[in-house]
Amino acid sequence: MPEFKNWKAGSRDDMNTQIYYFSGTGNSLHVAKALRKRLGETDLVPMVREANRGKTASSAEVVGLVFPIHNLTSPDLVRQFLRRADLGSTKYLFAVATRECSDKVFHDLDRILAAQGKSLDAWFIVAMPCTYIPLFTLPSKNAAARMEADLQGKLNDIQAAVAEKRVDRYKDDPLVFLLGRILYPPISEFFFRARFPEMARSFHADSKCTGCGLCERVCPSGRIRIQNGKPEWSASINCLYCFACLHWCPVEAVQIRGRNTVGKGRYHHPAVTAAEIARQKIGMEEEE
Ligand SMILES: Cc1cc2nc3c(=O)[nH]c(=O)nc-3n(C[C@H](O)[C@H](O)[C@H](O)COP(=O)(O)O)c2cc1C
Repeated sequence: MPEFKNWKAGSRDDMNTQIYYFSGTGNSLHVAKALRKRLGETDLVPMVREANRGKTASSAEVVGLVFPIHNLTSPDLVRQFLRRADLGSTKYLFAVATRECSDKVFHDLDRILAAQGKSLDAWFIVAMPCTYIPLFTLPSKNAAARMEADLQGKLNDIQAAVAEKRVDRYKDDPLVFLLGRILYPPISEFFFRARFPEMARSFHADSKCTGCGLCERVCPSGRIRIQNGKPEWSASINCLYCFACLHWCPVEAVQIRGRNTVGKGRYHHPAVTAAEIARQKIGMEEEE
């Protein structure tokens, strides 16, 4: 019998399980919502809101982190969030990455957690559509549906592991181990230091833009403002590289100069709305 089944329902701050999530196109939020449904009595907390507030102190005994992989590693926001999170009450800590990665991604999070004497008890990766359209092609509707069907089985596994508070830290196979330790770190470093900042300066709206303002609403960093009927991306606010502006634009007007984004199609998870992505800035519960 999972321990938390016997816990009392409390106020949102007293929830026994909290899942902290970050999501641009809804994959990670979909996983977080699906886990909440399966685990019960679970509070979903956006890392973006917590980062804006400064510090997080969780009172939950079970804490999950759900996030996308950016540039072969965890998003900067996730690492920043963990550095400032007080997980003193946490007895079981798990992480779910929505996409391919090496186990080094989780060991790197462990290093941050070591500052407060913690480490991840379990980590999981789940296959989801890849939203990095400058390099990859979006899956067909059928392929995305197959991934979603496979996801249900994976979510059952995660639910069982969390319910049993099972230690579940998979190890890379030898090839991924070598890639993850030797090749990926310098590539990530190069992209985060050089290519991504340049990409952040290259977002713009083409002539299809109707000035609807959806990009401004979904942008978790708050760097987009509609000026004279068109979005402008502030240079002084850091981009979180989530691609929400690019993928949620209803007329595919948002492009990245020099990155081959025209005519590449757009994606967001069908079970997540733009309003839910926008609410990451303030938190789900404030409007529920
Ligand atoms: C800027 C950026 C970089 C990405 N880099 C990787 C990567 O290195 N490896 C990978 O498997 N997926 C990568 N992806 C794909 C996302 O990790 C994946 O689609 C994820 O499920 C998106 O989750 P979200 O909708 O919750 O943001 C990247 C996506 C973006 C936007």
